[in-house]
Amino acid sequence: MKPVRKAVFPVAGLGTRSLPATKVMPKEMLTIVDRPLIQYAVEEAREAGIEQMIFVTGRGKGALEDHFDIAYELEATMKARGKSLEPLEATRFPPGAVVSVRQQEPLGLGHAVWCARDVVGDEPFAVLLPDDLMVGRPGCLAQMVEAYNKVGGNIVCAQDVAPERTASYGIITPGARDGRLTEVKGLVEKPKPEEAPSTLGVVGRYILQPEIMEILGNIGKGAGGEIQLTDGMAALIGTQPFHGLTFDGDRHDCGDRTGFVIANLALGLARDDVGPAVRAYLADL
Ligand code: G1P
Repeated sequence: MKPVRKAVFPVAGLGTRSLPATKVMPKEMLTIVDRPLIQYAVEEAREAGIEQMIFVTGRGKGALEDHFDIAYELEATMKARGKSLEPLEATRFPPGAVVSVRQQEPLGLGHAVWCARDVVGDEPFAVLLPDDLMVGRPGCLAQMVEAYNKVGGNIVCAQDVAPERTASYGIITPGARDGRLTEVKGLVEKPKPEEAPSTLGVVGRYILQPEIMEILGNIGKGAGGEIQLTDGMAALIGTQPFHGLTFDGDRHDCGDRTGFVIANLALGLARDDVGPAVRAYLADL
């Protein structure tokens, strides 16, 4: 079984749910406490053993690449002033470890992943949607890689969603369960509650086999008139092992205003530096 060494980050989305914050700033640069969403996702991937981060970007997303580049002027000035460069450490990668490809048109998540096919090549890969901030120890992708090393094939992160919210998620037709792992028998993108096969939703972490790339290149448009990753994955079911892993931890949907505010509170409270003051303020409130 080939190890999972590469991760695709679809980051070309316009972020219309977070306007006006995202008018000129990529939504993946929205900040939770002191780091942008993209950095949480990249750190989660690195912890899971990922060696190459592949950003699928679009126009106006240059800040994401700059964030993982060396900021020469900033570093030189900080050094000259005797300031520690420690806060920048998590943004440092060897040359070639963070690469970008462009999604020229917003044709859907499946299309975004397909845009990375040449960089991914013939090996399994992860997909991380940075809007979904996953908090756990070990991290969500590390938990998925651990499961992958046992069962192989394809693994999506699964989470029970509110019955009235199925139309916001890919929904799983569940098969046999074994602890946190559920066999995936079918997948449908954003079904209405009355048509949903279950309330087990797919959240933004995936481990996929490279065969999906050819499928994504050939499938037509699905829900919302977009090329859907869910439809490509559905076509793999039956040909390769396919599981959902219920992750041990919390998910914050930071593409949603409420989710974003809650994520700042949750992660702020959990931090040694700012946590005590935030907690005292909340208690007072
Ligand atoms: C995407 C996927 C969907 C998945 C969701 C998780 O939808 O298409 O299957 O459940 O991410 O966050 P989006 O939120 O981009 O509309």
